[in-house]
Amino acid sequence: MSNSDQARVQEQNLSPDKVMHKLVSLAKRRGFIFPSSEIYGGLSSCFDYGPLGSEMKKNVKDLWWTSMTRRHQNIVGIDASIMMNPTVWEASGHVASFNDPMIDDRTTKRRYRADHLIENHIGKLVRDGKESQAAAVKVAYEAAAGTDDPNRTLYEIITTEGIKAPDTGSGDWTEVRQFNLMFQCNMGAVADSAGIVYLRPETAQGIFVNFHNVRESSRMKVPFGIAQIGKAFRNEIVKGNFIFRMVEFEQMEMQYFVKPGTQTEAFEAWREERINWYTESLGISRGKLHWYKHDKLAHYADLAYDIKFEFPFGIEEIEGIHSRTDFDLSQHQQYSGKNMEYIDQTTNERYIPYVVETSAGADRLFLALLSDAYREDVVDGEPRVMLKLSPKVAPVKAAILPLMKKGEMGERADRLCSELSQNFLVQYDDAASIGKRYRRQDEIGTPFCFTVDHQTLEDGTVTVRYRDTAAQERIDISKTSEFLATSLMKA
Ligand code: GAP
Repeated sequence: MSNSDQARVQEQNLSPDKVMHKLVSLAKRRGFIFPSSEIYGGLSSCFDYGPLGSEMKKNVKDLWWTSMTRRHQNIVGIDASIMMNPTVWEASGHVASFNDPMIDDRTTKRRYRADHLIENHIGKLVRDGKESQAAAVKVAYEAAAGTDDPNRTLYEIITTEGIKAPDTGSGDWTEVRQFNLMFQCNMGAVADSAGIVYLRPETAQGIFVNFHNVRESSRMKVPFGIAQIGKAFRNEIVKGNFIFRMVEFEQMEMQYFVKPGTQTEAFEAWREERINWYTESLGISRGKLHWYKHDKLAHYADLAYDIKFEFPFGIEEIEGIHSRTDFDLSQHQQYSGKNMEYIDQTTNERYIPYVVETSAGADRLFLALLSDAYREDVVDGEPRVMLKLSPKVAPVKAAILPLMKKGEMGERADRLCSELSQNFLVQYDDAASIGKRYRRQDEIGTPFCFTVDHQTLEDGTVTVRYRDTAAQERIDISKTSEFLATSLMKA
């Protein structure tokens, strides 16, 4: 940015709590995200992606898919069904262990995650300088899983520590109970236990059960990966923070099958590749991304890290990277009776591969991108809202704005719009002053505006106006397509 551009754009500071409120409002007003079935009062933690939201989400998913499959000769994609044979979920451990510990407040009738209450309490003790008390609670909390009655242990920590509900201050607690997060449905005409199927709580199992199908049909040799994007469902009791925690959401998962003993090396390589993807492909600020190493591991993992993002409401997970050992394939071998071993053709070794998993949430990432991009600044003395999205992620790549809608100017703009729309999502806008039209595009993150004006009719050039700096330059109208293609490639 040149000095004169800097003088034109002055960024404003925003408090994080205001950003969330403004994002939710912008998302609805401009067609990114609507509450689900809104005319009936909505449904808790369910949302619909509008015209711009669905374009942007598709861009994110396409970027992930390309980075995983096209850029790796040894990774292929699948699209497995959401409903699977219910034994899959017994084998995977989800029927027995995919639980959250819940506690109810008798007075307010509100329900809470017992583990969250304790973790927040530990955080508060640390912030208040009560380090030794925090450490003692942490030890008891981490030991809970190994006790005869973990629920009782959690209950005792909550009551002994006098932990209250964060929203109401009440603490009239029931016992702690385990609550399974999987949604059950009935398949077939009769609603009995024989017809119970589950909506998948993760996409990963569709990959594990297809291990041999994919390996054989695609002639894959270990190490190789299988990638998938799809819906997952969890009956989350604690909801909120817009699309951060939903009951229906989309995952982008990749399972990388490796020879036992090589998993740590693969894990570290994927850790590096995944964090770089966020900064290099999506343009997310590195300073807002954080690593978190899990002390408490899921039932299938021997090592796990989260990539967390600084949301306006706190630092929270957007992707998990897990070393899943041979747990899943071994379990499916045991429950299905089918051999899940891999035979190395060159050495004749037989083994059940270990798995390194990268598991990102498309919706959480969408929210991270929106909040990372949200800006309020002043351009030439006029306030504006801007989404500083990477051009690759932005739903609309360019706007075509004729200075006057009638006559030759309008026709040239119309023709330019038709030509560019062969390859890019562009918007034609001839309503209101040019300043207002720029603001409308800034607010949805459109990186470039092409203005067709009097000079266009004389010399065949248009103005390119850059979203971030509000700087302008002229280029030949015939070069606009090439300009967009090059800008997107470089972004
Ligand atoms: N297969 C492993 C697995 O599912 P996870 O950490 O439970 O791991 C992976 O989920 C990612 O899925 C999370 O990092 C998050 O981005 C997303 N995710 C999980 N639960 C979610 C929810 N209720 N709403 C939105 N996204 C969610």
